[in-house]
Amino acid sequence: MSSVKFFMIFVFLLSLSSSLFTFTIEARPTYLYHFCLNNTFTRNSTYQTNLNLVLSSLASKANGSDGFSNATVGQDPNRVYGLFQCRSDLNTTTCQDCVVYASTEVTQRCPTQKGNIIWYDQCLVHCSDSNIFSKITSSPTIGMLNTENATESVRFDEPVLGLLNEARTLAANNTKRFATRQGNSTTSETIYTLVQCTQDLSSDDCSQCLREAITNLPQGKVGGRRLYPSCYSRYELYDFYTPNKTASPPPAPITLSPPSPVTRPTGKRRISSSIVIAIVAPITASAVLFVAGYCWTRRARKKYSSVLEEIGKFGN
Ligand SMILES: *[C@@H]1O[C@H](CO)[C@@H](O)[C@H](O)[C@H]1NC(C)=O
Ligand SMILES: *[C@@H]1O[C@H](CO)[C@@H](O)[C@H](O)[C@H]1NC(C)=O
Ligand SMILES: *[C@@H]1O[C@H](CO)[C@@H](O)[C@H](O)[C@H]1NC(C)=O
Ligand SMILES: *[C@@H]1O[C@H](CO)[C@@H](O)[C@H](O)[C@H]1NC(C)=O
Ligand SMILES: *[C@@H]1O[C@H](CO)[C@@H](O)[C@H](O)[C@H]1NC(C)=O
Ligand SMILES: *[C@@H]1O[C@H](CO)[C@@H](O)[C@H](O)[C@H]1NC(C)=O
Ligand SMILES: *[C@@H]1O[C@H](CO)[C@@H](O)[C@H](O)[C@H]1NC(C)=O
Ligand SMILES: *[C@@H]1O[C@H](CO)[C@@H](O)[C@H](O)[C@H]1NC(C)=O
Ligand SMILES: *[C@@H]1O[C@H](CO)[C@@H](O)[C@H](O)[C@H]1NC(C)=O
Repeated sequence: MSSVKFFMIFVFLLSLSSSLFTFTIEARPTYLYHFCLNNTFTRNSTYQTNLNLVLSSLASKANGSDGFSNATVGQDPNRVYGLFQCRSDLNTTTCQDCVVYASTEVTQRCPTQKGNIIWYDQCLVHCSDSNIFSKITSSPTIGMLNTENATESVRFDEPVLGLLNEARTLAANNTKRFATRQGNSTTSETIYTLVQCTQDLSSDDCSQCLREAITNLPQGKVGGRRLYPSCYSRYELYDFYTPNKTASPPPAPITLSPPSPVTRPTGKRRISSSIVIAIVAPITASAVLFVAGYCWTRRARKKYSSVLEEIGKFGN
C-alpha cells in the first residue's frame, strides 16, 4: 500500500515538473536571428516612445489574432510601422507567447536603431520607420544550415524542389500564405518542407518572394532555411511542423500505454487503487515520453549552430 502511495507521489511530482517544463518552453520561443536597421534615434525621443507603443500594441494584438497583425503609431518623421507574423500551424497561445517575448527582446537587442527584425521558430516581428505593409521586403536576409553531421545530406534534386514549389503554389493560393509539403527524395528519405509569407502580401508577391526563398536555400546539409522579412522557406529530414490542427494528434503516447480499456471515467467518484494505477501508468509513460521528447527537441534545436550570413536584395 505504502509503495503505491510512494509511486503516486512520484508520479505527481513527475507530472508537476513536466508541466513546469511545458510552461518554460512555451514562454520562451526559439531564437533564430535578428538585424538592427539603421538609422538610430536618441534615447527618450518621440521615435522611441512610438516604437515602444507599436511593440506593445503588437503584443496585445497577438492575443486572439489569426497569426498576423500590423500597427502604426505617430506622424512623420517619427512614424513607426510594425507587424508580426506567427507560424500558422501554431496555436494562439504559442503565437502570443512568441510575440510578447519578441517585442521586449528586440528592444534589448536593438536599443537605439529605428528598424529591427527578429525571427524565432514560432514568429517574426518587424519594425521600421518606413511603410513595410503589403509589399515585399527582401532585405536583410539570412540563410541557416542544419549542421548535424549525417552520412547523407539532402540531395537538392527534382523531388525536393518539386515539394518546395508545390508548397509555394499552395501558400500563394491560401489566405494564411502558409503551406507544408512532404514527400520522398530520390534517395527515399522523407523530406519535410514549409513555406510562409507575411499575410499582408498579395498572392503574386508571396509567390515571387518564395521563389527567391527557395532558390536561395542553403544546401548541402540535412536541413536549411532562408529568411526574408516578407517570407521564408525551410526543409528538414524530420517532421518539424504541426500537422493540420484538426488532424488527430501523433500516435506516440497512445502506442506506449498498456492495452487497458481506458474509456474516460466520466461519472465515477470513487477510484479504486487498481484504476488509479491503470490511469497513472499511461501518465507516467507519457511523462517519460514528454521528457524524452523535450530532450529530443533540445537536441534538434542545437543542431542549428551555424549561420551563413548574406545580405542581398531581389526584385524591385
Ligand atoms: C549601421 O550603423 C552602425 C553604427 O553606426 C554601422 O557600424 C553599420 O555598418 C551600419 N550598418 C548599415 C547596414 O548601414
Ligand atoms: C530617459 O528618461 C528616463 C525617465 O524619464 C530617465 O531616467 C533617463 O535618465 C532618461 N535618459 C536619457 C538618456 O535622457
Ligand atoms: C486574451 O484575451 C482574452 C479574452 O479576450 C482574455 O480573457 C485573456 O486574459 C487574454 N490573455 C492574455 C494573456 O492577455
Ligand atoms: C495594416 O496594413 C493595412 C494594409 O497596408 C493598412 O490598410 C492598415 O491601415 C494597417 N493597419 C494599421 C493599424 O497600421
Ligand atoms: C498550444 O500549443 C502548445 C505547444 O504545442 C501546447 O503545449 C498548448 O497546450 C496549446 N494550447 C492550446 C490552448 O491549445
Ligand atoms: C562533424 O564532422 C566534422 C568533420 O568530419 C567533425 O570535425 C565534427 O567533429 C563532427 N561533429 C559531430 C558533432 O559529430
Ligand atoms: C494558384 O494555384 C493555381 C493552380 O493550383 C496555380 O496555377 C497558380 O499559379 C497559383 N497562384 C500562385 C500565385 O501561385
Ligand atoms: C516514400 O517511400 C516510402 C518507403 O520507401 C513509401 O512507403 C512511401 O509510399 C513513399 N511516399 C511517397 C509519397 O512516395
Ligand atoms: C491538411 O489540410 C489540407 C487542406 O485542408 C489537405 O489538403 C491535406 O491533405 C491535409 N494534410 C493532412 C496531413 O491531413
